[in-house]
Amino acid sequence: MTGLPEPRPPAVEEITAPAAIAVMIVEADNEVLVQLHAALSHIWDPQAFSTLDGLDGARVRPGRPLVLVLGPSQATEETLERVADLLRDTPGSGAVLVVDQPSAGVMRRAIRSGVGDAVALAEIDGELAPAVDELAYRLERELAAAAAANARDRPPAHRGPARGFVTSVFSPKGGVGKSVVAVNLATALAMRSGQPVAILDLDLQFGDIAVMLRLQPRHTFTDAVSAGDLLDETLLRSFLARHERSGVYVLGAPTSPSEADNVEPASMLRVLELLRTMFAHVIVDTPPRLSEVVLQAVAESDLATFLLSMDVPSVKNARLGLQAFELLQLPMDKVLMVLNRADSRVHLAQHDIEKALEVKVDVSIPSEAVVPQSVNQGSPVLVEHPRSRFVGQVFQLADLVMARAEEAALQP
Ligand SMILES: Nc1ncnc2c1ncn2[C@@H]1O[C@H](COP(=O)(O)OP(=O)(O)OP(=O)(O)O)[C@@H](O)[C@H]1O
Ligand SMILES: [Mg+2]
Repeated sequence: MTGLPEPRPPAVEEITAPAAIAVMIVEADNEVLVQLHAALSHIWDPQAFSTLDGLDGARVRPGRPLVLVLGPSQATEETLERVADLLRDTPGSGAVLVVDQPSAGVMRRAIRSGVGDAVALAEIDGELAPAVDELAYRLERELAAAAAANARDRPPAHRGPARGFVTSVFSPKGGVGKSVVAVNLATALAMRSGQPVAILDLDLQFGDIAVMLRLQPRHTFTDAVSAGDLLDETLLRSFLARHERSGVYVLGAPTSPSEADNVEPASMLRVLELLRTMFAHVIVDTPPRLSEVVLQAVAESDLATFLLSMDVPSVKNARLGLQAFELLQLPMDKVLMVLNRADSRVHLAQHDIEKALEVKVDVSIPSEAVVPQSVNQGSPVLVEHPRSRFVGQVFQLADLVMARAEEAALQP
């Protein structure tokens, strides 16, 4: 490989396709195009084009890394100039050039057009995937930094008639990962959407969202409730704590468990209603106990993510939880079933759970050591270990939530 930047050389076998990287190959020679595709398709799902024009119709989702793999036929002055424009106009994009023979002239042109790396055609089997992976890794970090800066520069403002989308994270069982999923889902939504995101910690007795983000909020949910009719956007904003790295805002749980006792559902709903006028996404973390306040919050949500874990008590509790949803007349199309720690070594398999509960799991999240590590560091896994499988699956969940939010925004 004729590497332009300093490479971080991962072994090919350790690369797993992270969440959602778009890889697009451009090459005029069909035979070479097939070779390039074969060198990448075991990891990604590349789209192949014979000319740069084909990219016009390609679907590029904003907020995701786009890696262009340019075949040897694309190394002309004219094409590389177009590539330079394209890279400049597409945030989070980069290119790897595959060359027949690395020559000083070609390399100079490639550098000028912003191509991030070059690989010799003879070496593509061993070197192209690591080069794409390396570039995607850098682009992911750039996008995350840009999204955080964007959220920092744009404090939550009144969003007019549009209502924020409320997603509650729910499970009738304790310790299944609700709070971890709430924190990381909020971070993923902030990164992907570039819009303001808040977490409401409704675990009023033992809420730990602030701890998971190493925040020490001076005000909590109790202040918002106590403000009664005086609560408006400005006052509520002053009660929120902001997590710098992700840009996510938090309304923390009360500091003393006894404060939870006298919260009326109506007071909670007023706070939630106001949050959804200020934020594009509001994530509600809930305790394992089903209280009137929790049930009301779930009923008020646009979407409830129902967390399951792979053990028999969890399945039994899940049945009770689903019955509670029925009582709330919450239709199942407003529920996403999420299986956490899906690969834990237990006797149950995903299909046993799906069969027992008569539901389909929408996203399964693996068990990984980086999760408790990040919790202990007080930082989202997305920030600390952006390439983990856990993060890939959280992004998948975030994509489902965003798709639902888009659908909801289209409803009259
Ligand atoms: N996918 C995962 N892989 C590894 N560890 C995990 C995973 N999900 C959660 N955990 C660990 O499980 C523990 C419980 O997680 P968390 O506090 O999010 O659960 P919870 O459902 O919010 O608990 P509670 O019901 O007490 O509020 C944490 O230490 C967390 O690190
Ligand atoms: Mg919790």
